[in-house]
Amino acid sequence: MRDIDVLLQEHRKFPPSDDFRSHAAITDRSLWDAASADYERYWAGEAARLEWMKPWTQVLDWKPPHAQWFTGGKLNAAANCVDRHVRPSTGSRRNKAAIIWEGEPGDRRTLTYWDLFIEVSKFANVLRQLGVKKGDRVAIYLPMVPEAAIAMLACARIGAIHSVVFGGFAPESLRDRINDAEAKVLITADGGYRRGGIVPLKRSADKALEECPSIEHVVVVRRRAGADGDEAFATMQDGRDHWWHRLMQRAPIACEPEPMDAEDVLYILYTSGTTGKPKGIVHTTGGYLTGCATTMRQVFDLREDDVFFCTADVGWVTGHSYVVYGPLANGATVLMYEGAPDWPEKDRMWDLCERHGATILYTAPTAIRAFMKWGSEWVTKHDLSSLRLLGSVGEPINPEAWIWYQQNVGGGRCPVVDTWWQTETGAIVISPVPGVTETKPGSATQPLPGYFPEILNNDGKPVPVGGGLLTLTKPWPSMLRTIWNDDPRYVETYFSKWTDRPDLYFAGDGARRDDEGYYWLLGRVDDVLNIAGHRIGTMEVESALVEHPSVAEAAVVGKTHDVKGQAITAFVTLREGKTGGHDLREELRDFVAQKIGAIARPDDVLFSADLPKTRSGKIMRRLLRDIAEGRALGDITTLADPNVVAQLKEQYEGSE
Ligand code: WT7
Repeated sequence: MRDIDVLLQEHRKFPPSDDFRSHAAITDRSLWDAASADYERYWAGEAARLEWMKPWTQVLDWKPPHAQWFTGGKLNAAANCVDRHVRPSTGSRRNKAAIIWEGEPGDRRTLTYWDLFIEVSKFANVLRQLGVKKGDRVAIYLPMVPEAAIAMLACARIGAIHSVVFGGFAPESLRDRINDAEAKVLITADGGYRRGGIVPLKRSADKALEECPSIEHVVVVRRRAGADGDEAFATMQDGRDHWWHRLMQRAPIACEPEPMDAEDVLYILYTSGTTGKPKGIVHTTGGYLTGCATTMRQVFDLREDDVFFCTADVGWVTGHSYVVYGPLANGATVLMYEGAPDWPEKDRMWDLCERHGATILYTAPTAIRAFMKWGSEWVTKHDLSSLRLLGSVGEPINPEAWIWYQQNVGGGRCPVVDTWWQTETGAIVISPVPGVTETKPGSATQPLPGYFPEILNNDGKPVPVGGGLLTLTKPWPSMLRTIWNDDPRYVETYFSKWTDRPDLYFAGDGARRDDEGYYWLLGRVDDVLNIAGHRIGTMEVESALVEHPSVAEAAVVGKTHDVKGQAITAFVTLREGKTGGHDLREELRDFVAQKIGAIARPDDVLFSADLPKTRSGKIMRRLLRDIAEGRALGDITTLADPNVVAQLKEQYEGSE
């Protein structure tokens, strides 16, 4: 949890400047008033901005904890993101850039809305030819290339459910996600560029596919320029594997979008929870698109000529909602970048912003802290005057980073919007609206119209001013509908915190509300870590560690890290006859990275003869966190063997 003392001392305030306000689309609180008076009506008004093939008959059907929005309505997400922008009419966006893409080596592509229409339609036909039908699952394991967005939209066009898996995940993580969703087709690439090297996605995919019986076809995007059939990166299996560009050569263009029920599943996105098994978060079509499109307009004060640069990977929800669905549903231009922010130099982001004239930048606190560390010279050597708005997402932003961002990147001129939301919420929930909200560095400020958070204590008593657990008290259109194949887990995880109130959504975050109703997010209160804005379950890392032949038991906690927010510290007990040391420590770190992905590699591995447990045998993570942070130890009276802690602490402090 973040340092509440620092936040309590933060009293700076930034009202919207007259200059920003004079151009902003939203400058008063009438939307909030309307939404508070009748939130169903408010959301229906927002949904009506989408293009529906058939109107809904009911706005909300809420049988806690299950919600259905816009029931009876039919629409298609791809038609909303693409087709409606290319129809001949005055003001058509057919020649407007939809995606401006830059690869890490510097190669560039711009897809107009018309280009996107053709590509999505053709690839939708490719999928159909491969036997993909409405409701089938398609796994996507790609680098940040336009084909990722094209593949997602092509799925949406024919009613297939996409499941995007972050390209940084290891083969076993990919395998588990494919198998849980029983995907029929996998879309991957021979590789993607990262820090000048190639991430060999197809090779990882092949390893995963050794144990994925549901996969019938694999489509491979050629990213290695001119390397058709480059054996080093893609061995093509006869009958199963197909090059993307070859299939596209033969694909017809005409492809009618499938009329989808508002409540038909649009996608599954896996995210970490408190068990070793990731949860397949299920989002549906009408409500999700309404949430993305609405928040995109409100939070980013979206204008027709904006160049919106969201640095998130499509493998995470931010990439789904604010690289693909939110911007494109609004006919906006997105800037998409493939590679690392420090390649070839530490000014790549600013170089991108300058050369493409980015007007809005949406990135994560961990990136901002890295930029700070690299030094403002990298920023100030570029002309960033095109920027007019800055966003932050993924983890709490410390006031120091907020101010640095505002001053150095925004030149003191751009509002900063710190946006709180989750994979589960689908879209931004708590955030400034830049023409209205007075911001406070470190606070996500207040809920957007149509969202009703509250802070409750453990017993469900409201905390109007003070700290507690964050809940959303009313359903919202883009909320998750369930966990794929595991509705009981959905009910248990999100709607069982306060047993007498099965209608309250529990976010898993701690938060404080100040006397002006501002929310200060304090971090997760469950066994979920936020490492550089990426969500990782402690249990996932522990399960990986205990698979190593030397490991008997493992406990994983987060430790404060100045750039990543949190870093992983693993406490490990070894099997009889094994001894810990530098080599085994490195081996275990690599082992976890190979099992889950590099994002889960522990920073520290600490060997211990025993782990602190309660008398009933539960590992006391709280104590381990205290040890990892070097804090004075809290209450250890319930501990089975207090000596264990003393030994651990001694050893840990000695190791630093
Ligand atoms: C968790 C959700 C939302 C897209 C990226 C992460 C933390 C997210 C903020 C913020 C403080 C934040 C929360 C949340 N979080 N945004 N602005 N301030 N904390 O999505 O992987 O589903 O993680 O990220 O702890 O629960 P996610």
